[in-house]
Amino acid sequence: MAASAPTTRDATVADAAACAAIYAPYVSGTAITFETEPPTAEQMAGRIVAALRTHAWLVLEDDGVVVGYAYAGPYKERAAYRWSCEVSVYLVPDRGRRGGGRALYTALFDRLAARGYRTAIAGMTLPNEPSEGLHAAMGFEPIGTYRRIGWKHGRWRDVLWAQRPLGSYDDQPAEPS
Ligand SMILES: CC(C)(COP(=O)(O)OP(=O)(O)OC[C@H]1O[C@@H](n2cnc3c(N)ncnc32)[C@H](O)[C@@H]1OP(=O)(O)O)[C@@H](O)C(=O)NCCC(=O)NCCS
Repeated sequence: MAASAPTTRDATVADAAACAAIYAPYVSGTAITFETEPPTAEQMAGRIVAALRTHAWLVLEDDGVVVGYAYAGPYKERAAYRWSCEVSVYLVPDRGRRGGGRALYTALFDRLAARGYRTAIAGMTLPNEPSEGLHAAMGFEPIGTYRRIGWKHGRWRDVLWAQRPLGSYDDQPAEPS
């Protein structure tokens, strides 16, 4: 029987260990994230719960196995920023260019728009061609680059920020819910 196509769904805390396992090599082996200690499954569960409460956390499942995730959280805490979210997406390392990033972000942005969020913000440590490509393909516009804003693995790192609308801006926004 042919394998079914990968699907996206809302995460649960039961996905925490899989998400932690996907994320760990990027923490330990790259500067893609500025974290330096991989979070435990328990810490990941806390992040999933917090994201689901206010924003969204989705996983990509292939044949019953979680192979990627995307989530959003607040961009900044100050009140007038509350319609803007910071988003991120991670796939298992060998799954590039098979549509997973686009599928996760498409589902994530639908969720965020439905909750009343208006802008997605993403930061990318440079260089990261797949991430720059995905964000450009998903309609993000570059805002600017912080130079030498982080130190990881023996080098100063630049971070490119980009933003994308999640809805229109032509009305007074209702509270995100
Ligand atoms: C970034 C990442 C999520 C992209 O996911 P992906 O599943 O490979 O992306 P998709 O297959 O959905 O690609 C969608 C579009 O993104 C662009 N893109 C994806 N990979 C690319 C690459 N290596 N180079 C250039 N553009 C790329 C393309 O426009 C692509 O559309 P196309 O294949 O029709 O040309 C994935 O590479 C990943 O997990 N990387 C490590 C973690 C990471 O960097 N996360 C982002 C943190 S800022």
